[in-house]
Amino acid sequence: MRVTYRELGPREFRAAIRTLVGVYAAAMNPPDRTLSGREAIMDRHAASPGFRGLTAHADGQLAGFTYGFHGENGQWWHDMVAAALATRSRAASTAGEYGAAAEYAARDTPGAWLDDSFEIAELHVLPLWQGKGIGRSLLLSLAAGRPERTAVLSTADAQTRARRLYRGLGFTDLLTDFRFSGSEPPYAVMGAPLPLAAAATFP
Ligand SMILES: CC(C)(COP(=O)(O)OP(=O)(O)OC[C@H]1O[C@@H](n2cnc3c(N)ncnc32)[C@H](O)[C@@H]1OP(=O)(O)O)[C@@H](O)C(=O)NCCC(=O)NCCS
Repeated sequence: MRVTYRELGPREFRAAIRTLVGVYAAAMNPPDRTLSGREAIMDRHAASPGFRGLTAHADGQLAGFTYGFHGENGQWWHDMVAAALATRSRAASTAGEYGAAAEYAARDTPGAWLDDSFEIAELHVLPLWQGKGIGRSLLLSLAAGRPERTAVLSTADAQTRARRLYRGLGFTDLLTDFRFSGSEPPYAVMGAPLPLAAAATFP
């Protein structure tokens, strides 16, 4: 298997959104009715500052993709997570708790994880190509050389392959059992200092 990686700027990313949502659908198996909304979100994300996208190709065929951008106040995900981290930080200091997130936040401000952050929005590999190192390489490559201080993301709050991958690259839980909306399953919000722990050994 020969895997190659291609960088996508906002314009190329937009042109490929329908195809990329197809990868997302195959990897995540979401309800069909959510896919047009996902396309619209990705289209909006392409206009975010510091946008960077990557695709992976196995033997010339699209096998996966990832993208992220600079997190800023006013972005939906950023503001939801900032508010939840501030609440958690206040609760932790009141209760005298010092978990990883509380310690990091206490060193600076409650928003320390988000003040200068690279938000990793999506990472998906087609089922056929999962478990062969493509997801890990995509993530390391996406984060390599980023100017931000931290990388942040959200993922299902469960013991998944994605969660293991993120932990192995130095991500810790900032929030668990977190709901972006009442109807969704619980998420974990995770963060890692940049450069990522495994960056020195990449590729
Ligand atoms: C999560 C996901 C992106 C990870 O990508 P991946 O390419 O499958 O993951 P990797 O192969 O890089 O690493 C995963 C596993 O393969 C192993 N691996 C890494 N390189 C390998 C190689 N060269 N050969 C064999 N196995 C390898 C890793 O040790 C890891 O083991 P684990 O599953 O026991 O933890 C992918 O599985 C996926 O798309 N899943 C469904 C959608 C999803 O959950 N997306 C993330 C949403 S937040």
